[in-house]
Amino acid sequence: MRALTRLDQLYAIGAGTRLGYSPEEDAAHELAARWLQQAGLDVTTDEAGNLFGHRGDARIWSGSHLDTVPNGGRFDGALGVVAAIEAANRLPGTELGVVAFRAEETGPMGSRRLAELPDAFLEVHVEQGPALERLGEPLGIVTGVAAQARGEVTFEGRAAHAGTTPIEERADALVDAAKFVLHVRECAREGAFATVGALEVEPGATNVVPGRVTLSVDARASTAEALETLVEAIGFEPSWRQDPVAMSGPPLEALRAVLPGAPQLISGAGHDAMVLAAAGVPTAMLFVRSLNGGASHCPDELSSPEDIALAVDALTETLARLSASAVSDKR
Ligand code: GLV
Ligand code: MN
Ligand code: MN
Repeated sequence: MRALTRLDQLYAIGAGTRLGYSPEEDAAHELAARWLQQAGLDVTTDEAGNLFGHRGDARIWSGSHLDTVPNGGRFDGALGVVAAIEAANRLPGTELGVVAFRAEETGPMGSRRLAELPDAFLEVHVEQGPALERLGEPLGIVTGVAAQARGEVTFEGRAAHAGTTPIEERADALVDAAKFVLHVRECAREGAFATVGALEVEPGATNVVPGRVTLSVDARASTAEALETLVEAIGFEPSWRQDPVAMSGPPLEALRAVLPGAPQLISGAGHDAMVLAAAGVPTAMLFVRSLNGGASHCPDELSSPEDIALAVDALTETLARLSASAVSDKR
């Protein structure tokens, strides 16, 4: 199956690590640009390095991102790009566009240029959670994306000798940071998530009491109000924030028509589709079942060839419907 071969080719670039704007992400974009050309699309990039392939005056777009978290999986992001290229191959005469965004994992920025182009955006993505596997369903329709906030907190202490400074005289920044990590976890309640995922310890030496620690906070909740409550309870100043967004309009209606009875889900993970929907573009997302208990952002991330084939079929059919109704609107 070509989609799987291509996912393997992408995974081989950096062995699962393709950070935003790294040489590995560049190489993945170069490879995808070749696939776009082979599909008969005109290829361009914007000032942020996002990659576009389009036929004619494309106003219906699909795609996702090619960067990964450190040591990430085969499917997160890459599947949405590969699936969109497969759909473009199957719809040779159709005016549509395929996009590969840059640096989604570090706080998706989307693309102003794309937000101005499409009447419709559709993103295929792995679910990255266990809901579809538990329901025994291969595909799900995303109705919205949860709100999220990210920021950093710094703890100042005093660097000192690990072998001589009396414990009671230490100002150990890591001890304060550790208490804060437990506090963050306590703040996450039903339906809300809060995570400390990155920690920088200075000077970061075995024999030095930590003098300063900077850590990341990632907080998510299904409504803006619930997120605000969570941020206040944690007590940090977000440097990036995203309100919850709803999927809507013709892309969502077309997806529902193509997959009647498919489960409808809210995404706790952020996506490029979230940015486009927030910019006012009618947007829909199709989730593909994640196996291994929904493992994601790790090498265990897995979806089956059968489920991927169903997703490509559903994406192709949805894009064909959207394009047919766009053509009939023009008449
Ligand atoms: C994207 O992967 C996110 O962190 O939600
Ligand atoms: Mn992703
Ligand atoms: Mn991700």
